Amino acid sequence: MSTCTRATSLFSELKNRLDTRQARIGVIGLGYVGLPLALLYTEAKFRVTGFDIDQHKVATLSSGGSYIHRIPPTEIQGARSGGFSATAEFASLTDMDAIIICVPTPLDEYREPDLSFIKNTAEAIAPHLRAGQLVVLESTTYPGTTEEVLVPILEKGNGSGLKAARDTTAHGADEFFVAFSPEREDPGNDTVARCDIPKVVGGVNSQASELATTLYGSIFHRTVPVSSPAVAEMTKLLENIYRCVNIALVNELKLLSLRMGLDIWEVIEAASTKPFGFQPFYPGPGLGGHCIPLDPYYLSWKAKEWDFQTRFIELAGDVNSAMPYHVVSSVSRALNQQRKALNGAKVLVLGVGYKRDIDDLRESPALTIIELLQKEGAQVSYNDPYFPFIGKGRHYDLQMKCTPVENVGEYDCVLIVTDHSDYDYRWIAEHASLVVDTRNAMRGIHGNNIVRC
Ligand SMILES: NC(=O)c1ccc[n+]([C@@H]2O[C@H](COP(=O)([O-])OP(=O)(O)OC[C@H]3O[C@@H](n4cnc5c(N)ncnc54)[C@H](O)[C@@H]3O)[C@@H](O)[C@H]2O)c1
Repeated sequence: MSTCTRATSLFSELKNRLDTRQARIGVIGLGYVGLPLALLYTEAKFRVTGFDIDQHKVATLSSGGSYIHRIPPTEIQGARSGGFSATAEFASLTDMDAIIICVPTPLDEYREPDLSFIKNTAEAIAPHLRAGQLVVLESTTYPGTTEEVLVPILEKGNGSGLKAARDTTAHGADEFFVAFSPEREDPGNDTVARCDIPKVVGGVNSQASELATTLYGSIFHRTVPVSSPAVAEMTKLLENIYRCVNIALVNELKLLSLRMGLDIWEVIEAASTKPFGFQPFYPGPGLGGHCIPLDPYYLSWKAKEWDFQTRFIELAGDVNSAMPYHVVSSVSRALNQQRKALNGAKVLVLGVGYKRDIDDLRESPALTIIELLQKEGAQVSYNDPYFPFIGKGRHYDLQMKCTPVENVGEYDCVLIVTDHSDYDYRWIAEHASLVVDTRNAMRGIHGNNIVRC
């Protein structure tokens, strides 16, 4: 067989294995993105192996347990009987036909992209890479990462001279395929099934694009091929920057509305009746989660390479990161109205997850708010049905235990940071001496003890 024919057959063999669901799928990084994805492929009758460096996660999954609230252990057990397994041993990556990378992309202490997880993963894959495999990156990142960071590490580290397939060079028998496809999940959103969220796909070459489209086409109802990995990377950033900027806009308008005595929530509700040209965004105590507060800075960092200032991103960041300070001032002012000082006041923070009904604490504004309140001398407690304990994270070390919500009457102020649907807000309003509400959780409930902020 000639080299070129063998190269074509590498492509057709994998395409055929994906089409007939014979392909073995490896998912690297079994977190909020990777684990549900691995379960979707198992449900679609693929043989799936999950890889993670966190031994605890691997052990939990291997014993049929779960560490994500919305994934019950029964789902893991069902997947395991369907062939899903989890491992921390990367040698079996060679057996995979498609490898999907879902590892974190945080910011470092200087708020610059921390690509160490992607780089470490690429270095772990490289020695086990074989010709004809498809590698797809899903982690959110700046345009250029797939081709400038991932591909060079895979090519350099594989030891067999394997190269990523490109349209600009003649096809050989020593090729593997690479693509980028962003994850677009909205945790806690039950209105859109994950398989109904169209999957954007950009391959390093047309074959990689087609293979990744086939890979995702087997579980997503619609795929959206784009011309390159960089376009797919930028698409995800545009989506998140759009949210970040619009949330900042509405946060700023909330501050003005408060000053003018207007209810911004009523304004948003009225504006939302316009059948075109307006999409509602809602104000809050500050941005949270692994995406919106961080991802925009991936682009502002990359933009500097092009001598370009992303001013909207910086401005939105300024407005959004000031929100926790606004919340703390509002608590102080509300206590003052009751002739009390924040220093020494007992404050109960209700809800610490970064959004409603979510067991995710990453970048939650509640963490900053608790720290700011403590700095002012407040005695802070919290309640959150999803977090019995808050220990140490990347930017905090609180060591606090969840306190019962039934004791709201014992506090000088109850501060609603996250409006979980488990809470009985009417009951809280009746029993608390002061409620400061950052989420409009008290809509329709009135009382002199309720302060909207
Ligand atoms: N969580 C979301 O809602 C969401 C939505 C869209 C996009 N994203 C993006 O998806 C990516 C993953 O996010 P996530 O929320 O799933 O993160 P996560 O922290 O929940 O999970 C990442 C997993 O990767 C593992 N890991 C880290 N380094 C590894 C390595 N070298 N090899 C193997 N495993 C490794 C970790 O142990 C962890 O289990 C990020 O880039 C994020 O921005 C997340």
